[in-house]
This record gives sequence, C-alpha cells and structure tokens, in this order.
Amino acid sequence: MSATETAVVDGAAPRKRVIVGVSGGIAAYKACALVRYFAEAGHDVRVIPTNSALEFIGAATFEALSGNPVHTGVFENVHEVPHVRLGQEADLVVVAPATADLLARAAHGRADDLLTATLLTARCPVLFAPAMHTEMWEHPATSDNVATLRGRGVIVMEPASGRLTGEDTGPGRLPEADEIYGLGSMLLERADALPRDLTGSKVVVSAGGTREPLDPVRFLGNRSSGKQGYAVARLAVQRGAKVTLIAGPATGLTDPAGVEIVRVSTAEEMRIAVRKHSDDADVVIMAAAVADFRPASVAESKIKKGAGEPDMIPLVRNADILAETVERRDEGALPATRVIVGFAAETGDEHGDVLTHARAKLKRKGCELLVVNAVGEGKAFEVDSNMGWILSREGSEKALPLGSKNLMASRILDAVSALLYAG
Ligand code: CTP
Repeated sequence: MSATETAVVDGAAPRKRVIVGVSGGIAAYKACALVRYFAEAGHDVRVIPTNSALEFIGAATFEALSGNPVHTGVFENVHEVPHVRLGQEADLVVVAPATADLLARAAHGRADDLLTATLLTARCPVLFAPAMHTEMWEHPATSDNVATLRGRGVIVMEPASGRLTGEDTGPGRLPEADEIYGLGSMLLERADALPRDLTGSKVVVSAGGTREPLDPVRFLGNRSSGKQGYAVARLAVQRGAKVTLIAGPATGLTDPAGVEIVRVSTAEEMRIAVRKHSDDADVVIMAAAVADFRPASVAESKIKKGAGEPDMIPLVRNADILAETVERRDEGALPATRVIVGFAAETGDEHGDVLTHARAKLKRKGCELLVVNAVGEGKAFEVDSNMGWILSREGSEKALPLGSKNLMASRILDAVSALLYAG
C-alpha cells in the first residue's frame, strides 16, 4: 500500500472522529503523515500530543495538518471538559508513536495529561503503534504492559524491525504511517473488536504474482499487486499469530511490521518456500497469483527480435502449490495444518457465473476455504478495496461486502479462526 493510494480509500469514507495521540519519541515526525492520511480521507482529526512530543514536533504543525486546535493538558479550555469529552466522542484513538512510558501510563490507567485522560474515557477501538529501543521493547516491564493492554482489547501493533535512532537496529521502529493508517481505517470499518484469537498459531501467507523468466531481461507475469495477501499477513499478526509472508517480487508495498518475509520470484521458488515454511504451520493461506505455466526454457542471453515473425514460446506447467499443500496435509506430512485457504479470481463465462466456477475450484483444490473475487472492470487487482465471497468445504457461502483489503483480510481470518476453534 503506498501513501498516495491509501490517502483516500476508493472514495469518501464516512466522516468519523479520529484522535491521533503522539508521545515523545523521535518517530513523532511520522505522525504528521498519519494525521494527513486521516484528514485527507475526510475524518475529523484531533491531535493530542504529550508535552514530550512537542519537544520533537510543534503544535502548529499538528494544528495545520488536522485543522483543529492542539492541547496537551487537562487544564486548558476547562469549560469544554476536553479530558472527558474527546475520548467519549471518539470513533477511533490511534497513538503513534507510543513510547514505553506512554504504554506504561496507559496500562496503569494514569490520567496525568490530556492524552492519557482521553485513553481512559474512550470506549472506541484504540490502536497503539509502539516505537522505542529494542531493549525497552523487550524489557519484561514493557511486555507486561503490552499484555495488559492487549488483554483489555486494545490493539498494540508489533513494532517494525530495522534502523533505530542512532546506530542500532532491531525491533522497535515505528511501523510506517500507511500501515498504521490502513489498520486504523479497518477498525473504523469493522464494527466489532479485533480479537487476539490467533495467539500461539503459525500462519503462512503467500502474496503477489510470480515472474517466469524468458531471458535475462523478460518474464511472464501477472497484475497481482500483493495487497490482499499483505493485508492478511498484517491482520494475522495483530490477532496474535506468528506469520511468515512468502512474497512475490516488486510489490512496492510496505512490509507488514512483525512479519517474517521470504521473498521469491518464480512459482517454483514460491513452491519451495511454502513447503519449507508450512511444515509447522497451523494455517496456510495462498493469496498469491501463481503462474500456471512457465517458458519451457530460459534463454541465457537476451532474445533478439530478428527480422522475421517471432517464434512461438513453448510453455510447461508449474506445480499447483495449493493442491500440493492439501495433498501433503492429507498424507500426514503437515501434522499441525488445520486450515488451508485458497483464493480464486474469477469472471463468469458461457459455462457459468463467478460462483459456479468458484464452487468447482473449491472441490478441485480440496482446501477448507476459498476466497472468491469477481475480476474485471477495475475490481480486485491493484486497488485498495475488494468484495467477494468466502466458500467453505462444508458448503457455507458468505458474502464479503465492499470494503478495504484490510477489512476483507479481517473477515477471512474470522472464518479461519472459526474453523480452528471448531474442534
Ligand atoms: N495456485 C497455486 N499454484 C498454482 C496456481 C494457483 O497454489 N500453480 C493457487 C493460488 O494461490 C490460489 C488458487 O490456487 O489460491 C487459485 O488459483 P487459480 O489460478 O485461480 O486456479 P487454477 O487452478 O489455476 O484455475 P484456473 O483454471 O481458473 O486458472
């Protein structure tokens, strides 16, 4: 998901009251982009920084970006009782960055500034995007505070890994603003809370298209953007799963924070990676658009156009990774794997409509769930929203109304979780 693509999610979202809390870390500058995304999507955004946050970014910047006044203390504008009203009226509170200190104060129910007072009065979804040094993130005090907050239904994102302030690297980086925005928007769309029901599960997700080389310069590929698979990986982490994302090339998407990413290019590389990582997986979700065929041979040097008509390119069949995973599971090679999910992008034709083709595909592939998208006319590929159905092997068919790919991912995981807990 790129910043420009997410800034407005496929048309105007209903205007909601969004509070962006900012605590005092160097990553506070990234909150500016986050405020902008919510404001550009048409929401009424109030920024509540802590006093320390204002050491990094001035109130004037947040006022200009949100179009609303900025206060930090409970003794400003007391006649409006903002320390109670802002939280009560909010549809979503996002705190980014959430420092170790802010998480500790929130976990202990402190109300010593406007942000923590707001967190106590809010009854809407609350999302924390932590940012701190690795030692602070991994300290048992912080782990306990995060567990306390998650136990109350609050979403605390996994921090990203990478370069921190200074020379050190490790988990503790603030997730990218577009990722936080995508998750926050999903919470606004999804009326019910996001459960942490995948804790202790391992989920393998494939995403994106594959590239089948013809020569050192050219390949056969497809239009898959990887957005739906990335969204599934992102949401599975937020629900507590350990997630491995097997990603096709060049999606240009932000890596979901807290996810192990394995990059592959061809269908065969994807097959090998899925085999390797699904050994102990509880759930395998094949969202990738895998090429069914590849050129029978790859030229060592660039194929020249020559003077005459072009040669035909002979193709050979690639393995069906999804069908193979089902087969391996059914043979007992994947003892932990309980739910396998396939995807189908379909158009209707003279042989039947989208659902007719999808039902046949579900039977053919043998997986527990099949996510079906109707494609064509701008639907499904390269856009941020999606709609479709989830079909189960048992015969249930659930419509997935139009919504963001993050919302769709959360609904897919609802269905996965229901099967995991069905016994
Ligand atoms: N898939 C796979 N390996 C392949 C092709 C597809 O694992 N070589 C998976 C995809 O990841 C997806 C599902 O199979 O989850 C459906 O893919 P699709 O291409 O629609 O299925 P096909 O069997 O190729 O059917 P069609 O005849 O419609 O192309």
